[in-house]
Amino acid sequence: MRYVLPVIIMLLAVCCLRAQPATHGNNLIDVDGHVINAHGAGVLYYNGVYYLFGEIKKGATWFVPNQSWEDYRVPAGGISCYSSTDLSHWKYEGVALPAITGDATSDIDTGRVMERPKVVYNSLTKKFVMWLHIDKNDYSYAHAGVAVSDQPAGPYTYLGSVKPNGQDSRDMTLFKDDDGKAYLIHASEGNNTMQICLLTDDYLSPSATYSRVLVNRNREAPAMFKSRGRYFLITSACTGWSPNAATYAVADSPLGPWKEQGNPCTGPNAETTFNAQSTYVLPMDEKGSRFLFMADIWNKTDLPGSAYLWLPLQVDGDTVTIRWIDQ
Ligand code: DGJ
Repeated sequence: MRYVLPVIIMLLAVCCLRAQPATHGNNLIDVDGHVINAHGAGVLYYNGVYYLFGEIKKGATWFVPNQSWEDYRVPAGGISCYSSTDLSHWKYEGVALPAITGDATSDIDTGRVMERPKVVYNSLTKKFVMWLHIDKNDYSYAHAGVAVSDQPAGPYTYLGSVKPNGQDSRDMTLFKDDDGKAYLIHASEGNNTMQICLLTDDYLSPSATYSRVLVNRNREAPAMFKSRGRYFLITSACTGWSPNAATYAVADSPLGPWKEQGNPCTGPNAETTFNAQSTYVLPMDEKGSRFLFMADIWNKTDLPGSAYLWLPLQVDGDTVTIRWIDQ
């Protein structure tokens, strides 16, 4: 009898330890036991290694008054990088692009916004190119910033920011096609319309070729991927840090035309993207049917406490499905 209680406690402890790292809403832990700090993340797959880049959120969350939406903020903490060969064990590689302090005129000052970093490799220049959303606390600046490195994990040198073709750029992502062309996909026109802009061959500047898609649909948090020659674009609605329903669109070419579809999510809380917001879709096989849907579970009043949701995404013809699974 005296062994029963310790055995029950041990079994409970083992169950908790097994369940915790893979349960959505808990933060991901790196191989050193630290919470992964990489929000609004993207992944670069290079030479058999996955590199995860994301926003470093640290410090107190505060509220910016007199905005038309719930503008909660933390200082820009720069961009982190983690590496993994199995998507499960993540090694902290350090700060890929640091924020600086004390220069309010700089795009990457801690007083600014540095969000949604994405990295692609340019095989012509042999450089790794990062784009990210650069803004002021009231989101009036609406620029896309670009940084470059010779190494996948960085450090990245910040080159500056632009309004692509004179247009707003807020929530954004990158997509690199099989033909080597890369695109900047960005919420524009006061977040009313998404724009897809072909980057120059070195990926360092927007070209003059761009299209306006999801016109007046008020979408953000774009994540683009390709499956069997078809292009897919997942987006969210614009509700600040609060979750809403994702939708997706399908096209024959990155520049469109894009045909809007419904919500890819199924299961409990599908109408709020399982309480999360899209950030990236990572291909998981050569056939183009299995993907990893990566999203943020924002905690708006404690932004560093935000967590991650990673779920399998399946493509069947033109149908995208993200099915809830508990772990
Ligand atoms: C929603 C965006 O998707 C986030 O990246 C962030 O910019 C928040 N809005 C800010 O409210």
